[in-house]
Amino acid sequence: MNTPIYLDYAATTPLDRRVISVMQPIFENLFGNPSSLHRFGQQAETVLEEARRSLAENLGAQPREIIFTSCGSESDNLALRGTALARRQSGGHNLIVISPIEHPAIQVTARQLAAQEGFEVKTLPVDHTGRIDLGRLEDYLQQNTALVSVMAANNEIGTLNPIREIGKLCHQRGIPFHSDAVQYGAHLPINVGELQVDLLSLGAHKFYGPKGVGLLYVRQGTPILPIQTGGSQEFGLRAATENVPLIAGMAKAYQLAREEYSQRSNHLLPLRDLIIEKVLAEIPDSQLTGGDLQNRLPNHTSFVFENLDGNLLVQVLDSEGFACSSGSACKTGDPAPSSVLTALGYTADWALGSLRVTLGKDTSPVDVDRFLDALPLCIQRAREAK
Ligand SMILES: Cc1ncc(COP(=O)(O)O)c(C=O)c1O
Repeated sequence: MNTPIYLDYAATTPLDRRVISVMQPIFENLFGNPSSLHRFGQQAETVLEEARRSLAENLGAQPREIIFTSCGSESDNLALRGTALARRQSGGHNLIVISPIEHPAIQVTARQLAAQEGFEVKTLPVDHTGRIDLGRLEDYLQQNTALVSVMAANNEIGTLNPIREIGKLCHQRGIPFHSDAVQYGAHLPINVGELQVDLLSLGAHKFYGPKGVGLLYVRQGTPILPIQTGGSQEFGLRAATENVPLIAGMAKAYQLAREEYSQRSNHLLPLRDLIIEKVLAEIPDSQLTGGDLQNRLPNHTSFVFENLDGNLLVQVLDSEGFACSSGSACKTGDPAPSSVLTALGYTADWALGSLRVTLGKDTSPVDVDRFLDALPLCIQRAREAK
């Protein structure tokens, strides 16, 4: 078999060698605790604060507004729980507004806040591509709205949401706005001022950084309580000794992403569009899911095929040397149709046959050609085996 081809960059990305080069000497030499007063601690703190400064600059934020976390999920948890609880404490706000296509880190957290803390959770209407209906957003911005959380780009279907416009409407009413930009930030530049967000989540492993590290941007003055309590690290918002090598690696990976966004997109867009065009033309009973070519992540394709088991298709593709996914990685092994596809109105006979093919900066045109050549037969095999 030829070398396997990785087409699952929305699940995670390999570490960039330039990121490894930054982390390696820190792992080897800089073991100090950044909170310690002695020179070992000071050296680690210098690296930590330089990473914070660099990330803040690249996001259009202040260093004080960057809170390091262990991953995108934790950032989402801190944003939702921390702000909901703070808003209730300060003003009795009891309503959490989310979209129906949020990552489980938001959806499950919102459900738990409802079940255990008595919050009311409302879900915004979306169109068939998963984009928020701006015209109806105002109905949800009520006196008691604690916060609104809408993802910037969806992991399963690649749809981009009108974040700036949502942020603007929230701000007119003084309601904090969080956006999960874990996928978006890997491909599109972020300026938190322009995007009008108060809270924004990122995770390093989606942009060729290490796993186990993320950040939450928190605009100064946004009500928020810590979720992980203890020491006063991260401005009192996240108790834990910071993981300095991973944080420095994330800062380097994000710096590279900023410098290379347009080069990476220019490489990815024609490959993405070729896959979409060929699949829809050549595979019977296929549909593109998610946003159109304008409102879609530049590396993202996602489809549904009628009368097919998506997980089986992923296995058949894997046996042929192609690593893709059905729905999001978190759904693997779960025979229920994806809640995102269901929210968009797909019936189970379509939604169960989903396929996500996501490209990366090292995906070559030859990789895509090989994939497109193999796909029709793999689909036929998966359909026959159903
Ligand atoms: C949109 C989105 N949010 C949050 C997460 C969770 O990030 P992490 O794996 O860093 O916890 C993911 C990961 O798949 C994601 O795609």
